[in-house]
Amino acid sequence: MALHRSRFFPLALRRGFFIELSGAQLGEQTDLFDGALKAAKGSLKGLVFFDSNNRHRGRLSKKFSGAWPRKTHKYLGHRGFWQVSPVVHVLGIETSCDETGVALIRAQPGPGGGQAGPRATGEILAQALHSQVALHAAYGGVVPELASRDHIQKLAGLVERVMSEAGVDWAALDAIAFTEGPGLAGALLVGASLAQGLAAAVNKPVIGVHHLEGHLLSPLLDPAAGDIKFPFLALLVSGGHTQIMRVDGLGRYALLGETIDDAAGEAFDKSAQLLGLGYPGGPEIARWSTSGRADRFDLPRPLMRRPTLDFSFAGLKTAVLTHVQKLRSSLALDDQARADMAAAVQAAIVDVLTGKCRKAMRDTEIHQLVIAGGVGANQALRQAFAEFSRQDQCQVLFAPPHLCTDNGVMIAWAAALRVLAGQPPSRASGFSVRPRWPLTELPLV
Ligand code: KG4
Ligand code: ZN
Repeated sequence: MALHRSRFFPLALRRGFFIELSGAQLGEQTDLFDGALKAAKGSLKGLVFFDSNNRHRGRLSKKFSGAWPRKTHKYLGHRGFWQVSPVVHVLGIETSCDETGVALIRAQPGPGGGQAGPRATGEILAQALHSQVALHAAYGGVVPELASRDHIQKLAGLVERVMSEAGVDWAALDAIAFTEGPGLAGALLVGASLAQGLAAAVNKPVIGVHHLEGHLLSPLLDPAAGDIKFPFLALLVSGGHTQIMRVDGLGRYALLGETIDDAAGEAFDKSAQLLGLGYPGGPEIARWSTSGRADRFDLPRPLMRRPTLDFSFAGLKTAVLTHVQKLRSSLALDDQARADMAAAVQAAIVDVLTGKCRKAMRDTEIHQLVIAGGVGANQALRQAFAEFSRQDQCQVLFAPPHLCTDNGVMIAWAAALRVLAGQPPSRASGFSVRPRWPLTELPLV
């Protein structure tokens, strides 16, 4: 018999029951079942059609009621008995620190099948981001109470904007995701409360996302990530974290090395502060570097030659402080000196990060690396890794620069991958946030 265009169709005839299991997509319509109908007509008296997707109901019922010979056979009806939608829509909310981010993502399993993983694909239907940089700039760092208040003022408006720009109805959402931790407790609570409130109002599940998992998985939104396979390596470089992980699957993260003192982003921020450049320091150091000479000042590359995959950036900050004090006392801290020092700081951080990643690849023999977190937006770092991947014949994948720093897209995307992987959704309920939450304690899917 001909069963058209189905991806898989185990068949069984049992005591007069004709059973077909198929993996047809809706686009394949019901041609698939024509063959089954032909086969069934000869010997069966009734048909109950069980479908895994309730959304097919109207189209398939029509097709069957037309095709089935009603005079001689009985069509017993259509039953959708569980809902497995291959496409998911997830709203993501990020409020862990000083960016209010919201995004709506549509995601689906990749051609590899129903399992989510690096091969799942996603599309950003709408996104909105409000940065609090100007609010905190005067203080040289994030003021937690001001951050929470600003999230309260901005968040609901951004959610409304994203939903209307995406043109997706609340009813079509599969989950509402929010950053559950780690981060500033008050700031996290703003996102968590709105997500839980919305989820209760529109009767949708909620998913609490780990902020670093959001960063870590964001490069996989790039279509080029199609060839990335578990296990791969990940370098997480943000304002609070510098870690090399081995990623064995969703929620399966093994920590291979991390900073024993300051994070790479912190090294950028503190050096910028010492040089009297703006806040946040990373983009400022990058901007000043373009007119500086990296070899004028000799800065240390801490732990670079040691056999460990751990990092240390506190010594770099101290070296910058010593140079700045000397320059100040000789009245030589002019703009050229600032630019040269900025270039030297950037070069030292880039050297250490590339050096440790090279070592991690050698140690693990894993040659795929994703780079995530705010420092991943740094152009010099991106160029150095591009060069590195050519020389070492490995694959290095970055999120686009605007998705390296905090945003709602990465939260929606991480949650969508978990939904596609079958993580059971939870209903809105009493909730808490986790300001401290090690990535290695994440639930497996
Ligand atoms: O991931 P992120 O937005 O927030 C945290 O979760 O920490 O990272 C912020 C960090 C800051 O330290 C900031 O200075 C750094 O990322 N950063 C950069 C660049 N853009 C942001 N560092 C170097 N170059 C950049 N272009
Ligand atoms: Zn972050």
